[in-house]
Amino acid sequence: MIVLKNQEFIQRDNAKTDIEDRGYTFGDGVYEVIRVYNGAFFMLKEHLERLQFSLTETAIPYDTDSEDLGTLLNQLVSKNQIKNGAIYLQITRGIAPRSHPYPKQTPPQLYAYPIPVSSPVDAQQNGVSVTLLEDRRWLRCDIKSLNLLYNVMAKQQAKENGHFEALLYRDEAHITEGSSSNFFAVKNGTVITHPANNYILNGITRLAILKVCDQLGIPFEERELRIRDLESIDEAFLASTTSEVVPITEVDQQKIGDGKAGEITSRILEGFKELIR
Ligand code: PDD
Repeated sequence: MIVLKNQEFIQRDNAKTDIEDRGYTFGDGVYEVIRVYNGAFFMLKEHLERLQFSLTETAIPYDTDSEDLGTLLNQLVSKNQIKNGAIYLQITRGIAPRSHPYPKQTPPQLYAYPIPVSSPVDAQQNGVSVTLLEDRRWLRCDIKSLNLLYNVMAKQQAKENGHFEALLYRDEAHITEGSSSNFFAVKNGTVITHPANNYILNGITRLAILKVCDQLGIPFEERELRIRDLESIDEAFLASTTSEVVPITEVDQQKIGDGKAGEITSRILEGFKELIR
C-alpha cells in the first residue's frame, strides 16, 4: 500500500507516527473519508471544502489549495490502483512537546491512505434497526474532528445490542444524527433532516441527497425532529460516505411506517446510485 505523508508518497511500512504528534496526545486534528467509485473520487471538491472548514475552525495552519491536496489525492488513488473503495485522510496540528496551547511554527502532519469500503447491499435492500442514545458529544459536531470517543462508544453499544447504528438525541428529545451518519425522515412525501448547524456534521452524502431530491422533485425540509415524531413519520433512512443510503425499519423495536424499506427512500437510493455510476 502506498501512503501519502505530507507531500511524499511512501510505503505503508515506513509510515510511522511520532509519540508527540498532537493527534495522538490530544486528538488535535481533523479528518475526511472520501469515496472512490470506478477509479474516481466522488464529490472531492465538497470534501476538500469541508476539510478546509474544519482546519480553519480549529486554526490548524494548512491550506488545501496551496498544498495542491486534490492533485496529491488523485495521485494516491492511481498509485494504489483503487477502483472502488475510499481514502482516509487526517491532518493533525503537528509534533511538539505535550503542552495544551498551540505550538508555534510546527508544521501540520498529513496522512492519507486507502481503506476498503463496499456498499452495504443487504442493509440497503432490507433496512436496518437503530437504537436511540443520548448525544453526549461536544457542541461543535460540524467540525470533522479526530475526537470520536463518544461516537465509537455509541456505535459499540448499538452493535452489541444488534443494531446497525446509534441514533443520537439531545436535551431529552431532539434527534441530531447517527454516530457516523446523518438521519432523514420522510413524512407525507417530504424529506426532513436536521439543519446543518453545530449539532451535526454536514455530510457530503447529505448534500448529494439534497441534489437527488431536487432532481426527483421530492420536497426537502431542514428542521429538527423530536423522538415523539418517530411515531408519525412514514419512512426513515441514514446516509454516509460508507453506507450511502440505508433505510431504517425499526427504532428500538418500534416499527417505522410499515416496518419495510420505504418507497421514497428507495427512489432516493436509486437516484444516488445514478449519481455515482
Ligand atoms: N462519518 N455524521 C457523522 C457523525 C459522521 O461521522 C459522518 C461520516 C456523517 C456523514 O458524513 P458524510 O456523508 O460526509 O460521510 C455524519 C465517516 C464516514 C466516518 O467517520 O467513517
